[in-house]
Amino acid sequence: MRPLIFFLTSSIGKKYLVALTGLLLILFVVGHLLGNLQFFLPPEWINAYGHKLQSLGPLLWLIRLALLAVVSIHIVATIALALENKRARTGRYAVPGYRASTVASRSMAVSGLILLSFIIFHLLHFTVRVVPGHEYNKAVLTKDGKELPHEVEIDKHWGIPLAKDKPHVVHNVHGMMAAGFTYPAIAGFYVFGVFLLGMHLSHGAGSFLQTLGLRNDRMRSLLAVGSRVFGWAIFIGYASIPFSVIVFKHGLPK
Ligand code: HEM
Repeated sequence: MRPLIFFLTSSIGKKYLVALTGLLLILFVVGHLLGNLQFFLPPEWINAYGHKLQSLGPLLWLIRLALLAVVSIHIVATIALALENKRARTGRYAVPGYRASTVASRSMAVSGLILLSFIIFHLLHFTVRVVPGHEYNKAVLTKDGKELPHEVEIDKHWGIPLAKDKPHVVHNVHGMMAAGFTYPAIAGFYVFGVFLLGMHLSHGAGSFLQTLGLRNDRMRSLLAVGSRVFGWAIFIGYASIPFSVIVFKHGLPK
């Protein structure tokens, strides 16, 4: 046990922690995006999916706690490493300027922290549903006062008919997302949040491969490009949801 603690608190151990927790967060971000893209399918798809997740009960809480632990370790280990690097740097570089760095790599701490505040807002908005005027508990209101039901009945999940023994009334996740994004400030904040996520990942996705030793000189440029393409694909995927509501009124009553 002691050698493990010793390793995890060493510089290289912390780098591994940042990389592995980063990888877990990447898996979550991809999974959550795939779940969210069901917004473009008939509403019952994402409504049934949201209901399935909520009905996991204790398992959902276990996943939430694990996610919280992973995010916390990722942040604490990153801050500790940044402080160590600062302390180890004895003077200014002889050659001014940033070699091999990009806006994304230089702003990892800032983009990470703003991202964290976006995620906290997002959880209060869509999961805990306590943002004043956006509780989505009695009715789901769009900015111009159109009312959508806060609960709907579904008879299929992922195309498979549900048992007909009882009505399946579920939260209208599709309506909540559509109504939520009729507010330009909210839609704008989401697009900004996922822009930072894209920027963070466009650098971070490649760095974790480097930490795990999977990067040599020949792979360097390939990984940098792959990392950027991945980060911006994640941005486009997430941003397409608020964008489709604001620009094309997707999911709103005619
Ligand atoms: C346009 C962008 C996004 C949309 C439309 C969106 C949508 C949603 C919705 C609808 C829920 C609630 C599901 C339900 O209760 O039925 C949710 C939950 C959640 N989202 Fe997002 N999300 C977005 C971006 C993100 C990002 C970028 C992250 C993190 C990097 C994230 C992390 C979470 C987490 C942790 C939950 C809570 C899951 C739970 O514990 O129930 N989301 N999201």
